Amino acid sequence: MARRLGILTGGGDCPGLNAVIRAATKVAHAHGYEMIGFMDGYSGVVEKRYRVLDSWAISGLLPRGGTILGTSNRSNPFYYPVREGDKIVYRDLSDQAVAHLEELGIEILLVIGGDGTLAAARDFMAKGVKIIGIPKTIDNDLRATDQTFGFDTAVRTVVEALDKLHTTAESHHRVIVLEVMGRYAGWIALYSGVAGGADVILIPEIPWNIEAVLKKIDARKEEGKPFSIVVVAEGVRDPKGELVVHKLVEGSVEKIRLGGIGKVVGDLIEQLGGIETRVTVLGHIQRGGSPSSYDRILATAYGVKAAELAIQGIHGVMVCLRCNEIKYVPLEEAAGPPRTVPLDHPLIKTARAIGISFGDE
Ligand code: F6P
Repeated sequence: MARRLGILTGGGDCPGLNAVIRAATKVAHAHGYEMIGFMDGYSGVVEKRYRVLDSWAISGLLPRGGTILGTSNRSNPFYYPVREGDKIVYRDLSDQAVAHLEELGIEILLVIGGDGTLAAARDFMAKGVKIIGIPKTIDNDLRATDQTFGFDTAVRTVVEALDKLHTTAESHHRVIVLEVMGRYAGWIALYSGVAGGADVILIPEIPWNIEAVLKKIDARKEEGKPFSIVVVAEGVRDPKGELVVHKLVEGSVEKIRLGGIGKVVGDLIEQLGGIETRVTVLGHIQRGGSPSSYDRILATAYGVKAAELAIQGIHGVMVCLRCNEIKYVPLEEAAGPPRTVPLDHPLIKTARAIGISFGDE
């Protein structure tokens, strides 16, 4: 039997996952390894569902969004959903997963995931499984890497939406509030807001107040621009300082799903500012579509590096981008709270210099 590597995609999907799978598999093949793709995140390992990725399986993958392997954010082997009668109970099936990896002769498992998936990867390592992490998420909030793939494409999608919202806001003399994803970090809102010409950007890292938002909108009116675009990150707190939670997802490592702050901000602008306001929530559109060229390149570089490390027998690490170089760090370094936007980030300064308000002054 050929030597084998395994690969899986876990957590929320994002553009570029297929590009990683393609690149890592090409490198594995070039060194005489077989690549085993596990289906639906860790579920494929727990339930022994996989496909052998031959050269046809990875053909045409570069421009394709999503993941051909499927993904799941509810398949943590240490807290795995099992149906018992009409109830779902959660069991530790990690030993079963480890046994499957051994049976299949997987030498090293490449785990493409965000914080939840990589946290489970660290727990797996403690059981002797050899793992290489590959950071992904549109939120760009992972520690130990300067950028995750998927982020650039998500920003591009938001900017396209902002361009469209601008023309309708201008025609109707309205305020349009656009709520974007990003969880507890404001990366997507900051980058897309600047690139899409927002007038106000609200991010979780900068406390805001409605008076400052209205001040900016009024100043624009006085300039003869009776319309404004407000970008709000989903992790922004409401005026009482509370997160706005859309739902709780049982079985997910991170149960909270944010959503709804856009409406809170929009209602306040309309009620207190007396200006007609509409709210758009972009939602999962931000996760879909073909990856941008930047994300294709980053994903390919991550996939190549991860497979090369595996072939060299290096594991327990996560590939990362540091100062434009692809490197690797101990997987533990990726642990911890999300990487939020630092308050001295140069893009915040740039944005303020051109009059963008962050709702704080
Ligand atoms: O982490 C990626 C992300 O899209 C977040 O921006 C968002 O809060 C969350 O996932 C949505 O999760 P789900 O796909 O479970 O609704």
